[in-house]
Amino acid sequence: ERDIEGKLPLRTKKILVTAGPTYEPIDPVRFIGNHSSGKMGFDIAKAAADQGAQVILVTGPTHLKLDHTLVTVVRVTSSEEMYAACHEYFGTVDAAVAAAAVADYRPKNVAPQKIKKSESTLSLELEKTKDILASLGEKKISQFLVGFALETENEIENAKLKITKKNLDLIVLNSLNDKGAGFGSDTNKVTFIDKDFNEEPMELKTKEAVAADIINKIKKHYNA
Ligand code: CTP
Ligand code: CA
Repeated sequence: ERDIEGKLPLRTKKILVTAGPTYEPIDPVRFIGNHSSGKMGFDIAKAAADQGAQVILVTGPTHLKLDHTLVTVVRVTSSEEMYAACHEYFGTVDAAVAAAAVADYRPKNVAPQKIKKSESTLSLELEKTKDILASLGEKKISQFLVGFALETENEIENAKLKITKKNLDLIVLNSLNDKGAGFGSDTNKVTFIDKDFNEEPMELKTKEAVAADIINKIKKHYNA
């Protein structure tokens, strides 16, 4: 973690990390969410801070905690709040890693009162949320931008489309097919794809080890 002079390699770097699910409100007591635990993002934040980086961790609802002098944890609930928090900090960072499982859709209208049961069916109209990562890609000047991709078909091809669409420097493609990878698991089987479309399949590893690999990519980019 320290170089030969005992210095932390990322001590001059500031990194934004997103983590966890988002909750999209339906009414005052209900939401649409997902099963993301937040672990991948928290592990990335810790790995970066352990190398001396100053980290802003913007996380959706999770029970995870991270006590580290170099990490500022910003807790948000909805995708809209996560979007606002990310844009508040993005201009000040050297790299950003989007590990959050942001909802793609949210209820178009949030009921002001608890929805009472009446009819036998209920339809909710949903609208697309803002793509946080793509919006950071549009805004980026020199930041090293890392995204994740979860695909169940045409994995490599779809991940490459996301690199282009979101203006990424690196994408971490998560394979759900392999057992022991994905939501709720402590391990991940990933393939790194860089902006020149070089593919690097990795072994099944713990999320901590995947986090360390991602931080290494950032270090390499900055010759740190
Ligand atoms: N992401 C984001 N904001 C969103 C949706 C996704 O920042 N509203 C980010 C995720 O954090 C991840 C990357 O975009 O780093 C890819 O997420 P993914 O769900 O795989 O792709 P989508 O672009 O949402 O496309 P789809 O779900 O249709 O595959
Ligand atoms: Ca999505």
